[in-house]
Order: sequence, then C-alpha cells, then structure tokens
Amino acid sequence: MIAFQLPGDKSISHRALILACLADRQSRIQNLPGSADVNSTRSALAAIGAVISDSEVGVVQVSGPTGWRPHPGPIDCGNSGTTSRLLMGLLVGLGVPASLTGDESLRKRPMDRVVYPLQSMGGRISYTERRDRLPISLEERTSGSLRVLRYRGRVASAQVKSALLLAGLGAGVEVEVREPGVSRDHTERMLGSLGIPIEFGRLHDGGARVLLVGQPDRVSLPGFDLAIPGDVSSASFLIAAGLLTGQPVRIEGVGLNETRTGFLNVMRRMGAAVTEQVVESRLGEPVGSIDVVPGPLAAFEIEADEVPGLIDEIPVLAALAARARGGSRISGAGELRVKESDRLAGLARNLGAIGVECEERQDGLIIEGSNRSLCGMISTGGDHRIAMAFAALGRSPDCAIEVDDRDCVNVSYPGFWNDLEQIATGSDS
Ligand code: S3P
Repeated sequence: MIAFQLPGDKSISHRALILACLADRQSRIQNLPGSADVNSTRSALAAIGAVISDSEVGVVQVSGPTGWRPHPGPIDCGNSGTTSRLLMGLLVGLGVPASLTGDESLRKRPMDRVVYPLQSMGGRISYTERRDRLPISLEERTSGSLRVLRYRGRVASAQVKSALLLAGLGAGVEVEVREPGVSRDHTERMLGSLGIPIEFGRLHDGGARVLLVGQPDRVSLPGFDLAIPGDVSSASFLIAAGLLTGQPVRIEGVGLNETRTGFLNVMRRMGAAVTEQVVESRLGEPVGSIDVVPGPLAAFEIEADEVPGLIDEIPVLAALAARARGGSRISGAGELRVKESDRLAGLARNLGAIGVECEERQDGLIIEGSNRSLCGMISTGGDHRIAMAFAALGRSPDCAIEVDDRDCVNVSYPGFWNDLEQIATGSDS
C-alpha cells in the first residue's frame, strides 16, 4: 500500500480565502495549495485590499480590509472559473466596483448563469466585450441594498450557487437557490459552521435547496483556523493510476464530502475495493482516509443524476473506461463542454488518437475498453484534468502516452508528476 497526503482542496481553499476576508479577526489557513487557481483568488482578494501573508511556515494569515478598495485595472482571474464567479457574487454583495477578466480559456466560458441572477438582485453588471463572456464590469451600488433572491438554476452549479450566497451574505439579504441536481456544498457547510443561519439539503425530485436567512446588516464572520483537507479530486488521478497498475493506494487527511466523492462509487462498481473512513470534521467538512485495492476493471454507466457529484472526475473515469472490460457509457454530462476546455470533445479526440474506440455524444461518451497497446501524444488544450487523466492512463501496461503540456497540471496540482512517479516506483510521499 502506498500512502499520500495531498495539498489542500481547491474548492475549499477558494472559499476559505474569501470567507476569511469577511471575518472580524485574522484567520489562519494551513495546507493552502500553491496552485495557479488558488493563487488567482488570493491575488484578486489582495488587489481589493485583503491582507494575505505567509509569515509562518505552512500557515497563511488572512485579514479582510477595513475598507474594500476598488481596483483600478481589470482583476485577472487566470484560468479559474471559481475565482471569477465567486468574486462576482462577493463584489456585487459588498457593492465594490471592479472589472474582472481571465485567460483565453476562461474568457470562453459562460457567465450569464451568474450575471442574470445577480442582476435580478439589483447588481449592476455589464459585459465589456461580448455577451455572456468575461471581461465584465461591476458598478458601484449607489443606494440601498440588494433585493431578496429566490432562484431556480437550470444547471446544478456550485459556482453559481456560491456566488449568489456570497452576494446575499455581503448585502445582508435572504437568498434561496434551488438546483436540479446536488452540486458540491462547501460554501453552505462552511458558512453554517461559522454560525451563519443557513439551511440546505436534498429535495425529493433529486435536486437540492439552500436558504441563506436574511440578516439585518451585513454580517461579519468570526475568524477561524483551518487546515484545508487534501484535495479529493487530485486524489482521483493517483487512485486511478493505482487501479491501472495494480497498486493499492491510501490517501490520508483528504476531504470526504459526499458531494465530491461520487467517483469512488463508480470505482466500486468497476470492481475496486474502496474504503472511506471519516476521522474528523473541519468547518463542517468531513476529513479522513481512502483505501483502494485494485481488482479487474468492469465497464460502468453514469447517468445525469450522478454527474454533479463527479463532474471534475469524468476525464479520469473516461481514462479508466479505456482499460475496463466492456463498453462504458457516460450521459447527462453536457456541462463538461463549458469547463476549462470542451472536455467531451477533448476526451473523444484524444482517446481516439491513442487507439481507444470512443463515440462522442452531445451529452456524453461511449468508450470501449480493451487491453490493446495505446500510444500517442495527448493535446490537452491547456486543460489540467485532461493532462492528468491521460497521464494516469499512460501508467497502465502496454501504453506509451505523452501529453503536450505537462505544466498545465499546475492549475490545480503542482506536485502531480512527482506523486504519479511514486505510483510507478511504489514509494510513499
Ligand atoms: C467548483 C464547482 C464545479 C467544478 C469546479 C469547482 C467550485 O463547477 O467543476 O472545478 O469550487 O465551486 P460547477 O459546480 O459550476 O459545475
């Protein structure tokens, strides 16, 4: 058994930095990853007046500003959809003017899904180049607060939901969001455990609802100390490499929020022996270990209702499908077309290029597993999860797979290549 402890969860890190800026005393965050996406949130918050420093080894200290300061130029959110969307909600809620932009990939991603509901709360937001795309400009709120929001989203999206909750929190107004599926609930859990009145849960129709109770004034959160749990999405690539090479893998100190661990259920259905053990809770987030013992891999099916809980793990599951017995089918996953790249197209193109039979559907993929020799160069399109998924597949027997852009993994997992190497040599991190 080879064991890993991973850098902090990307989603929880974005939220920890933002919530720490709304706190009434300094907060201390440990295990904050040095990944590009989290750095985008960190520098965006610093640009509008937050004080964020690494004064102790392994601890980042964060204080919100006494007064938020408008940033003169555009704030660059890099490749990070979470940074851009959560920041939009936060700034609209606080009434801080700013303009937001991002890299080429982020400027192709849809923003109406956040902009519309924020505008219906009274947020003054406009697109500066193209409808539905960054850059955007957020204007100062000249008078009054935002309006109460009751919103029913068309897609299950934690980024949208969190943006709206942050707007409500910043402006002190009630926000209710209903989603057609169950997206990750980190914002709700963290706010709840910091004492903010919030209700959330699953609905009978398979969706989810969250209600942030209105506050008379803008709330100040208590400061907090948080060791960010290891990133379970990063873990998925190491676990997959273990399954493909017959190497049992243990991940310690990792986030086990069940709105994130859907991929483990798929791996169980494929035939892996997976044990999760929760040992503690940190700001409402379950943390513990995962043990995975490989077995022969069977094909799987994923339908729409399961997709939000494994949205970021579809690339790595598609890579596993290439080595499973039989045909695997992923459907209801159209959201993958608006991630860091069009991941359905990227997966189909690259699987085909290395010799895997794969059919691209409008909202999914059908992948025929085999043990034939797979080789070729992966064109990642700069997408970190495409790169890591194929790198894991490249570890399986009789594969010679290279990726065209090894550096893009730094978006979420800078230590990836070293950790993957350890699966090959069988030594612990
Ligand atoms: C994230 C939510 C997900 C996920 C992304 C991170 C978050 O996006 O794909 O990598 O931290 O809120 P959506 O929930 O918008 O699909």
